[in-house]
Amino acid sequence: MNPKTYAYLWHKSRGANRAEIIRETGLSPQEYEELERAQAQTLEQIKRDQHRSETIGPDFVRLTRYIYGGASAQMQGKPCPPVINPPSGELIPLPKVDELSEPTLSLKQAILQRRSLREYSAKPFTLQELSFMLWTSCQVNELRQGKNIEITRRQVPSAGSRHPFECHLLINRVEGIPTGLYYYHPIQHGLILRESGPDIAARVLEACQDQEMVVRSAFTLILSARPYRTAWRYQQRSYRYLYVDAGHVGQNVHLAAEALNAGSCMVGAFTDELLDACLGLDGIEEFAIYVMPVGKKP
Ligand SMILES: Cc1cc2nc3c(=O)[nH]c(=O)nc-3n(C[C@H](O)[C@H](O)[C@H](O)COP(=O)(O)O)c2cc1C
Repeated sequence: MNPKTYAYLWHKSRGANRAEIIRETGLSPQEYEELERAQAQTLEQIKRDQHRSETIGPDFVRLTRYIYGGASAQMQGKPCPPVINPPSGELIPLPKVDELSEPTLSLKQAILQRRSLREYSAKPFTLQELSFMLWTSCQVNELRQGKNIEITRRQVPSAGSRHPFECHLLINRVEGIPTGLYYYHPIQHGLILRESGPDIAARVLEACQDQEMVVRSAFTLILSARPYRTAWRYQQRSYRYLYVDAGHVGQNVHLAAEALNAGSCMVGAFTDELLDACLGLDGIEEFAIYVMPVGKKP
């Protein structure tokens, strides 16, 4: 979804009239009329769901209790989904983690010092430091294959070791890597360019509700979730696990950043439709779940 369509739906679903929407969004009258036609169904669905959205929280917790679960796709012998879904493209290899010098900050000190950091120095991250950050948070250290099951092991825990995430990076200031949006390949430990140039950074900034830290960082890690990877085994209960799993990644990012005299701030306030559009995701099969800017301390 593009920002204009989103702005139209946002105002319209709150009951704004034509004149107010045109004034607030900067749409031309012609664009407004086009959206009226093209978005009529979406708007109807939003209105239909508005009441449900007010009560979905307790219902979600209740209806994902075990008492409601039937036979999972795994129990039914349905094929195990792939452990990662990388895009095609040339791989930019990252330095191997066992070649990196180890940070000297103690774990106790890292935990003690950790605070959300929203202002960063202009000092770039080295490739080694980026490599270390990705190892702690996303890299696969073991790939296991069994009968109709394939799992990865990583530095973070995940329910059933399903690791339902893909990792995207908005690179702002990393030595040797041009700015742009990249996919991190967690098995081959390398980057695949998705989109180069400053335009993508501006769109990610807008999607993150103008929280400047996402573009002032050395890089911003964006996790997206593919729920079926976990739902294949745990059905709807998986949606609980997605968010718990994402938290583990976030804490490792915080502590690893601390060890590099850097910091992070978790970002949950983003506009789903816009961020998914930046990443080329459909918002259902895969959607953005957590954003983590990382930069050196000022
Ligand atoms: C799930 C989650 C979402 C968050 N979203 C935002 C955000 O969108 N913007 C922001 O500035 N901070 C965000 N934070 C950071 C919290 O505000 C911060 O962790 C909290 O104030 C405690 O401060 P501390 O991390 O320094 O201990 C988020 C933290 C979490 C865990």
